[in-house]
Amino acid sequence: MINNESRSVVILGASGNLALTKLLPSLYTLFTSGALPQNFAISGYARTAMSSEEYRKIVEENLRNSIEETLLVESFLQEYLKSIHYFSGSYDSVEDFSKLHVGLAEIHTKFPSKPTVLYYLSIPPSVFEPVIHSLRECGAIEKGDPDVSVIVEKPFGYDTESAKALGKTLDQTFDESQIFRIDHYLGKEAIMNLMVMRFANLIFEPVWNRNYIDSITVAWEEDKNIGGRGGYFDKAGIIRDVIQNHLLQILALVAMEKPRSYDSDAIMAEKNKAVKSIEQITLDDCILGQYISGVCGGKPVIGYTDEESVPDGSKRETFARIKCAINNHRWSGVPFYLQAGKALTKSSTEIIFQFKEVPGDIFSSPHHPNKLIIEVQPDAGIKFCITNKVPGKGMVLKDVALDFSYDDGFNKAMPGAYERLLLDAIQGDKTLFINYEELIHSWEIFTPILEKIDAGNAEVFPYHAGTNGPEETSRI
Ligand SMILES: NC(=O)c1ccc[n+]([C@@H]2O[C@H](COP(=O)([O-])OP(=O)(O)OC[C@H]3O[C@@H](n4cnc5c(N)ncnc54)[C@H](OP(=O)(O)O)[C@@H]3O)[C@@H](O)[C@H]2O)c1
Repeated sequence: MINNESRSVVILGASGNLALTKLLPSLYTLFTSGALPQNFAISGYARTAMSSEEYRKIVEENLRNSIEETLLVESFLQEYLKSIHYFSGSYDSVEDFSKLHVGLAEIHTKFPSKPTVLYYLSIPPSVFEPVIHSLRECGAIEKGDPDVSVIVEKPFGYDTESAKALGKTLDQTFDESQIFRIDHYLGKEAIMNLMVMRFANLIFEPVWNRNYIDSITVAWEEDKNIGGRGGYFDKAGIIRDVIQNHLLQILALVAMEKPRSYDSDAIMAEKNKAVKSIEQITLDDCILGQYISGVCGGKPVIGYTDEESVPDGSKRETFARIKCAINNHRWSGVPFYLQAGKALTKSSTEIIFQFKEVPGDIFSSPHHPNKLIIEVQPDAGIKFCITNKVPGKGMVLKDVALDFSYDDGFNKAMPGAYERLLLDAIQGDKTLFINYEELIHSWEIFTPILEKIDAGNAEVFPYHAGTNGPEETSRI
């Protein structure tokens, strides 16, 4: 329990999928674990007209369907539901937002102290601007007020210009210190462990550079096809959906220098420097693919352009492998591959560090250079591949893996990424969030190639659903 403070979370877009399936279940888990203060309120806001009582019923039903039975303690559940309120109104009505503001003030009068208020923009990007405008005009936000903050969900723009425009909109109402740009990948245990692995273990630093590492690959795969989500996906593509944000954030944590302390400003400064050191990407650094029919997860899958939700003849990339170069002393000459694809063989995310060959090898038995694999999902773990002598006569070598899994090592349930990040934001800790400078750099790296892909001026190779992507992948 956090001492005697008061906290209030306001979810805008509270009737939506993210609010009901991720945010409210995560807040429930935090609530039952005692991580939230006694003086805590959740208020939902959306256009759908319903009473607080009706909203609580929807939340309850969702929790009963999504939370493990052992965690659904009836007394906790009823107590949690009591902390939830609902307001309906449109996103562009200052009058409706004023009613929300008055309603919140009434809820807050029950608290012994003025609460900090966290607004969560769980809404489509098309309504960001009116919502931010309404929040400002109804008097709910004072720019720079340390007790009021906002969480913004991706997409943070569509390219450099739109990201800057969104930044400008946010800047009219919030100070950068009040803005939490969330990328849920940064709340995953294996990703948070990257810094611990690098900076709390002596053995990694001496080899974490161009002298020992041959290449680094951050690979995201999904064995699902697009199905009915083509409307959204076809405008974005896999680079905007996964690579520009999740994979680039992982790259920054892998490549950055050691921060002066484990403090959000110091970490952000080092991440910014790493992202700024990435050289401009051209189409020559990319292999793009689009899936055609095949078999995925044991089921026959139609091709991407045959999906009903996808426009005929679309050249949108559902797979991309991008070679990035980091121009600094540590990484010069080491390729970083960012690779992501839909309709592949499995669903997983991993970081693969391929080490160089041992110079002057004295063994005649073939063996491979070391490989370190950080498994992010579905199961988090660390695998280190080394060469070993096969027991017995002669000198036969074999690659074996030292294998650590979080499940075996810690024997406890891993908190969800949203759970962790929501708690950090409620407590005002920005360490695992993205700042404006870094965001704009990340768009500048990808915008030139995205413009060419959007215009249909990039070669997109076909690959069968259920395979590892296009055959051309090995060209870069
Ligand atoms: N779901 C996820 O796992 C996830 C992951 C990463 C990022 N995000 C981002 O988080 C945000 C919310 O996601 P979501 O899945 O909850 O979205 P959603 O269900 O499509 O939308 C959230 C709410 O916004 C309102 N809304 C939807 N379309 C609208 C429109 N055209 N104009 C005005 N209001 C509209 C609806 O509420 P009312 O009609 O009741 O107002 C809806 O319940 C989105 O920006 C999404 O890109 C979601």
